[in-house]
Formats: sequence, C-alpha cells, structure tokens
Amino acid sequence: MREGKKADVLLGLQWGDEGKGKIVDVFTPHYKMVARFQGGPNAGHTLEFEEKKYILHSIPSGIFHRGCLNVVGSGVVIDPVIFSREIDQLGLPVDELQQSLFICRKAHLILPSHRMLDLVLEWQKGNAKIGSTLKGIGPAYTDKIARTGLRLADAATEGFNEKYQRLKQEHLRLAKSLGFETAELQIEGMGFDAYEQAWFGGLQRIRTLPQVNSEVFVNEALDKGARVLAEGAQGTLLDIDFGSYPYVTSSNTITAGACVGLGLAPSRIGEVFGVFKAYCTRVGSGPFPTELFDEQGERLREEGKEYGSTTGRPRRCGWLDLPSLRYAVMINGVSRLIMTKADVLNQMESIKVCVAYESGGERIEMLPSGADPSGMSPVYREMKGWMSELKDAGIVEDLPVELQDYLELIEDFLGVRIDIISTGPDRNQILFRKGTGVVNRV
Ligand code: IMP
Repeated sequence: MREGKKADVLLGLQWGDEGKGKIVDVFTPHYKMVARFQGGPNAGHTLEFEEKKYILHSIPSGIFHRGCLNVVGSGVVIDPVIFSREIDQLGLPVDELQQSLFICRKAHLILPSHRMLDLVLEWQKGNAKIGSTLKGIGPAYTDKIARTGLRLADAATEGFNEKYQRLKQEHLRLAKSLGFETAELQIEGMGFDAYEQAWFGGLQRIRTLPQVNSEVFVNEALDKGARVLAEGAQGTLLDIDFGSYPYVTSSNTITAGACVGLGLAPSRIGEVFGVFKAYCTRVGSGPFPTELFDEQGERLREEGKEYGSTTGRPRRCGWLDLPSLRYAVMINGVSRLIMTKADVLNQMESIKVCVAYESGGERIEMLPSGADPSGMSPVYREMKGWMSELKDAGIVEDLPVELQDYLELIEDFLGVRIDIISTGPDRNQILFRKGTGVVNRV
C-alpha cells in the first residue's frame, strides 16, 4: 500500500455554475495544491472577496492564496489568448506567479482554428445546436482523441510551426467545405489573423510559466503528505459519457475525470465534495425537466443573477431535481455535499422540489440511464419557504427551520449529509454543519 495522502475532489452535481469557484477558494487555505483536471476556458469560476469579483476560466481557484500550488492538469485544454489575459487580470507579480502556477506539458492547445470550427459546427447544427460557449472545446478535444492535436510541450519542439500550419489547414479545409472562409469569422471580437497573432504571443507568455508532468507532480506532492484538491469544471450532467448526450461538454466532468485528467489512481481519491445549487440552472440546449418558464423562473434568474460568467447568456432556471442529483451522487461517489445559493430562495413563499419523474404511470426516482429524462414529467413536493434573510456565518443548525426541513428532505433522498451551506457570493458567507467545517474532516 502506497504511503501518503489521498487527493480530495470537488465537483459540480448539476449542469455547471453551482458556485464551485467560491467553495474552492474557501477550502484552499487547508490545501497545499489545487489542480484543475478537465475543461478549459468554457468554465467561469467566480470568486468574490474584499468587494472585488474575479472570474477564472482556466486557472485553478486556489490562485489567490499565497503558498498554494495551482496545477493545470493534463486533461485541461488551453487557449493561450484567454490564458494570458487571465494571468494579466490576476495582477500577481511574475515571481509569485512562477511559484504558484504550473501547467502540464501534456495539456492540449486550443488553436484559433479550433475556435473557428466550433462556430462553424454549431452553425451547421441549426436548431439542434448544443449551445456551446464557442471556446473551441469540442474541436480541441476531438483532435486530442483523433491523435492529431498539439500539446503544450510540442510548442518547444522543432517543427512546431509546420505541425500548427498543417492542422490549421485541415480545419480551414473543413470550414470551407461547409461554406465558411476564415476572413468572415470573428473570434473574441478579432479577425482570424489578429487572433492568431495574439495566440502566438500568449503561447510565448505561457511558456515562461513552469511546466510539469501533472501525474508526477501531483502524486509526488501526495507522497510527501501534501493535501491536494482536484477542482472540477462544468458539472456531472454535462459529462461527455454520463451527461445528457449530445448536449454535453467534451470532457469527463466526474470524479473519474480527476483520475485521467491528473494521472491519479482511483485508490488515491479521498473525499468527494459534491456541490449543488439550492435550485437548478442550465445554459445551452438539452433536457431540463424542472425548468420554469413563468415568472417564478424569471425571479430565480434575477435573484440568483443567473447570467453566464463566460458568455453572459441568461441561464435557464428551475426547481431542484433530486432524481438527477441522486444519479450524480452515485456516479461520483460523493461523500460530502455542499449546497450553494440558498439565499436566492430567501423570499420564496413556497418552494418546489422534484422528488421523482413520472412516465406512463411509472414513478422513477433516479435519472434514467443516459441522463435524458425527455418525455417524463416531474413530480413535485411543495415546501414552505423560510421568508427570511440568512446569517452569513455560523453553523447550519442556526438556519431557519423551514430551510432545515429542505436540507433534511435532500439528505434523506440522497443518503449523504449536507455539511456546508453557502449563503452569498462572498468568501465569508458560509455555514458549516456543527462539528464539521473544512478543517475537521478534510
Ligand atoms: P462547450 O463545452 O463550450 O462546447 O459547451 C457545451 C455545453 O456545456 C453547452 O451547453 C454549454 O453551455 C455548457 N457549458 C460549458 N461550460 C460550462 C460551464 O462552465 N458552466 C455551465 N455550462 C457550461
């Protein structure tokens, strides 16, 4: 049996936007290392402290804590333009950055032509479009799996420019066959050539950061007894294999994704923190059984400021869906639950929770296989709202009794305890279950 610590995993149990960034930020003082294992700039992790708001896309959410090592793992895809812009926004001195941010050499690069293809392929899908963030995620992972992609390490090799040109020409050919010329397309408000120039500039910049093999770096840290937190992006129901395919992202967003995206053996996984919102949201297309199309949905959107942090798109909103949460808890092996945005429901007189789906007279209490509940209608349990403001800090047991009833219903259904409740965007707005806390059990 190998000595050393196990890595804990923190991930989303819904369709992303569960508020993971804030939770990782709260946890970071208790960890030596925070490592991202999948996704890329499609993610938008929002952190708020000292009255400032930061949105991280590719950089792990531990970056604002001195002494924390932040790793961008082999499973992540990197757009050098967005990455270097993100570095600028951090405003950290170069030497500090070099001691706190590490990128895996095996991470794949998102080329400007991947971004262009994302646009073209979404357009081609017409009404069946996925609602992608258009950050080039799908095409970059496609090349990775097709074994034609470029990795960060390739940038240091002879012949990189030729390889880049060859792949780009392939992409242009495909775009052209679908009726598009690069000259017509804008990426982040820039023409293709301007974006490409910024891309090479960004790549040079990234190459000044320390590069590691994340599997060795992370395992060695664990061997030495360091606490490691693997930070997931998007959410379980967007997983490429277990989400509502094809309306998913192109990576494994689940616990197993931490194994392949960082190079961790399954036996090295410790606690799995599952983060879910007190209600549901989804951006982009795809099934959403508890979606609200009325003013209640509008109210959730406004109270919860439910607009995409990466794209600004309004998020679809609806009630909490327990059958899909049960599926997410199963697939991830969640050991501890964290509920966020409880405060958004503060002024709701009554709150509904989906406790089953019904189809042809049959009652289903777990999301059906394939994560597609189309054609099923949600069965709701209605609960009394707490109609009061929540404390910023303290213990869960201090919360209004109606909210405690809400928590109990969820815990009974899922068979896992909710240890932490987030009651607002700030780092300090957080309550722990009596006798737990991050430190006690982490
Ligand atoms: P892509 O990963 O950008 O191709 O998008 C695929 C689907 O995942 C779309 O429905 C997006 O809206 C959704 N998605 C991707 N990243 C996130 C995220 O970080 N939060 C929420 N939804 C996301």
